[in-house]
Amino acid sequence: MNLVDKLKKKAAWAALDYIHPGAIIGVGTGTTIFYFIEALSTIKDIIYGAVSSSNTSTSLLQKQGIQVFNLKNFNSLTIYFDSADEINHQMQMIKGGGAALTREKIIAAMSKKFVCIVDKSKIVNVLGRFPLPIEIIPMALSYVSKEIIKIGGQPKYRKNIITDNGNIIIDVYNLCIKDPISMEKKINSLPGVVTVGLFAKRRADIALIGTKSGIKVIRKMK
Ligand code: A5P
Repeated sequence: MNLVDKLKKKAAWAALDYIHPGAIIGVGTGTTIFYFIEALSTIKDIIYGAVSSSNTSTSLLQKQGIQVFNLKNFNSLTIYFDSADEINHQMQMIKGGGAALTREKIIAAMSKKFVCIVDKSKIVNVLGRFPLPIEIIPMALSYVSKEIIKIGGQPKYRKNIITDNGNIIIDVYNLCIKDPISMEKKINSLPGVVTVGLFAKRRADIALIGTKSGIKVIRKMK
């Protein structure tokens, strides 16, 4: 296992400390969350079950014998665990590298606590080095791409990806996102955009950062 994976795994296992008995756990998507699901399986008898942000995570959870509930039957959750492609010091994130951004954003919005699990390579001062994913309705591809160019980004259609919601993804390169909240609002307001992978308004509450010397915990400043 390479160092990055070791740090992802370390952070994922540290997340177990934040789980209370009987809880329904919101579960994100991605390679870090793969390790989290492995860890979660060791305490599966003390949790009630999970809700999941993707078909991939649902099948991983079920393979581990963890019951997965349909999100539509819930209007709030106590806790959500997910990773990020980038996270800044204000706990704002870029997510969607795994194309699950829309369901991730729904679960993040309805959760009282968002615990972000990352290895330290994900920490940045300014968001935007990682290409910003946007889930869009397929027929809006050219229009949304044109509007993204106007705000200074370089959109690239992500080939061979259909999201769990039947949509497509564009990844936006060369953005230097100095004001993530207004950028999130601006892109979300374009017709055809389902979700932008900027998690700025609803940022993380706690970040568990895997480093060589252990887990660093950062809490959101009010
Ligand atoms: C999935 O759509 C993403 O938001 C992931 O949470 C993010 O891409 C982090 O993925 P890794 O854990 O694979 O780095």
